[in-house]
This record gives sequence, C-alpha cells and structure tokens, in this order.
Amino acid sequence: MPAQDEYALLPQRSSPNHSSDDEYSKEYSYVPKSGYYLSTTSLITILVLLVTSSSIALISTLTATHLSSRLQSSDLSISSLPRPNQFIGLENIPADAPERETVFRFPDLIGRISRTQPTHVFNSDEDKGRVEITPEDSMILQWQTPQDGVEDCAIAGVFPIEAERGGKPFMAAGNTHAIEVWNVTAEEIISPSSLNYQTRPSRGILLGTLNVTEDMRDKTHWFVCPEGRIQTVELTCPTENCAVEFLMNFQLPMLTIDLLQREKTSTSLYSRSTNNASCGV
Ligand SMILES: *[C@@H]1O[C@H](CO)[C@@H](O)[C@H](O)[C@H]1NC(C)=O
Ligand SMILES: *[C@@H]1O[C@H](CO)[C@@H](O)[C@H](O)[C@H]1NC(C)=O
Ligand SMILES: *[C@@H]1O[C@H](CO)[C@@H](O)[C@H](O)[C@H]1NC(C)=O
Repeated sequence: MPAQDEYALLPQRSSPNHSSDDEYSKEYSYVPKSGYYLSTTSLITILVLLVTSSSIALISTLTATHLSSRLQSSDLSISSLPRPNQFIGLENIPADAPERETVFRFPDLIGRISRTQPTHVFNSDEDKGRVEITPEDSMILQWQTPQDGVEDCAIAGVFPIEAERGGKPFMAAGNTHAIEVWNVTAEEIISPSSLNYQTRPSRGILLGTLNVTEDMRDKTHWFVCPEGRIQTVELTCPTENCAVEFLMNFQLPMLTIDLLQREKTSTSLYSRSTNNASCGV
C-alpha cells in the first residue's frame, strides 16, 4: 500500500476530476485537515488484517497447544528433557542388571549308581543318559565349570509335558516333589567306566531340592561354583516311596537336569570380596 494512503493530505473536495471516481473519493473524502487520516479502505484493510491475524493467532495457539500436548505424551519429548542425576553411582550399574544372562550346561557325566549292585558300572550305551532315581539308585552328575568368571550356579530341572518332550520317555511316581541335590567331594573328573556305588564320591552339603514332576521347571538356590573347577552332585530320593526315570540327552526339546550358571553382578562381587564366602546359598 502506498504511503500516500495513510499520510496524504486532504485534496480539494470540489475537484471535479475526482468526484465520480469512487476509489479516489473514498480515499480522500473525509479526513480532518489538521492531521493524518485513515481512509475507509485502509480501515477495512486493517480490520481484515486484524481479524486475519487474530484468526492466525488463534489457530497457531490451538495448533501449539495440540502439538505440545502431543509432544508431552511422546517418549521422544520426555527422553529429550534434561534429567538431573538423582542417584549416587547407581546409574553406573548396567540397565539389564536384574536380568543377568543365564546358561544351561548339560552334564559332562551322567552316572548311575545302585546300592543293590555296589560294584556294577552302568556305562553301557543303553545306559547312556538314562536317569534313574529310586531309594536304591541315585545319579552322579558332573560338570567342569569354564574359566569365564561366572561363579553363580544352581542345579535346574526342565520336565515338559508329554506333547512337548519330542517322544522322550519320562516317569515320576510317588514323592518326587523334593528330589535331593547333594554337593559331593569329587576332586577329579570321574571316569564313567570306574563309577559304581563303592567308588562313589562322598556327600557334602545338601544344595537344595528339585520338584521332579511333569510340566515343571525347578531350580535349587544359587550357590558359589568357582570357575574352572569341577562341580559334582548326587541326586537322591528323599523317602522310600519315590521313583524317577527318564532319558536325558543334549538334543532338543530340553528334558534335563543341568547346571544353571548366571553372570555375576557387582553385588555378588561385593559379597564375595567382603566375607570371602565359599558357600552362598
Ligand atoms: C511340585 O509340583 C507339583 C505340580 O507339578 C505341585 O503340585 C507341588 O506342590 C510341587 N511341590 C513342591 C514341593 O514344590
Ligand atoms: C562342594 O564340594 C566341594 C568339594 O568337593 C567344595 O570345594 C565346594 O566348596 C562345595 N560347594 C558348596 C557350594 O558347598
Ligand atoms: C579368603 O579365602 C582364601 C582361600 O579361598 C584365603 O587364602 C584368604 O586368606 C581368605 N581371605 C580372607 C580375608 O579371609
């Protein structure tokens, strides 16, 4: 818009050249002599501008509100906000600390011994991987723990339902809800060809019990198993009325009693370095 529209002085009303010119007459018709004036067109224009700009302001306010409420509910916006540290070093613990990686280790030795056959060695192919636990029979399982710094262990059993066993036989009868897991004192790797009831390693402490029933996953408490060492256990029936029989091999689906190992945390490092415990059940 030319500056003239706002600041031009009133022309002669009587001017015949302008009287019939609507546009012109509107612009120059009624302005006081003494000062600046606004023409009707300018007023209308300004009104239009005002209405338009207030509409724009309203729309942008609404849009901004809408956007900000959307942004508030989005994770991106929350995560981009500055967050002062409220912790005292706890933030240095890896975020996945509670879910430490666990590994199932299949036994290096699955050896059956029987009180009723004290000198018999059960190491034929037909006995391979065959687990039999009764008041007379028990199982010696042995692992060699790797040198990987993992020293938290448990004995874990996986006993799926028949439909999920892949045809592997499984039988548990009587009181098999608390099959005992004993730590035994084997200093060396046990040769399956020399293991029998007479040569069996002697029992140490009870590490825990396993509920050996169909459709069950169970584990003992965690205990300390030094890395790069031999871990040997004996599985026994707790009472007379008890019988377990199944075939255990490395093939899937899992039907097994394994050594469960989990990565250590700074907490377990702390407890071990302060009380020097060799047994943390
Ligand atoms: C063992 O598991 C069975 C179900 O399979 C359950 O009824 C029983 O209470 C469990 N016993 C123990 C001691 O956990
Ligand atoms: C198990 O027995 C061995 C000895 O053969 C011993 O060194 C180890 O500390 C025992 N483990 C537990 C958890 O008691
Ligand atoms: C911790 O145990 C080791 C043997 O495992 C021993 O040599 C050491 O002296 C013990 N330390 C303390 C502080 O008891």
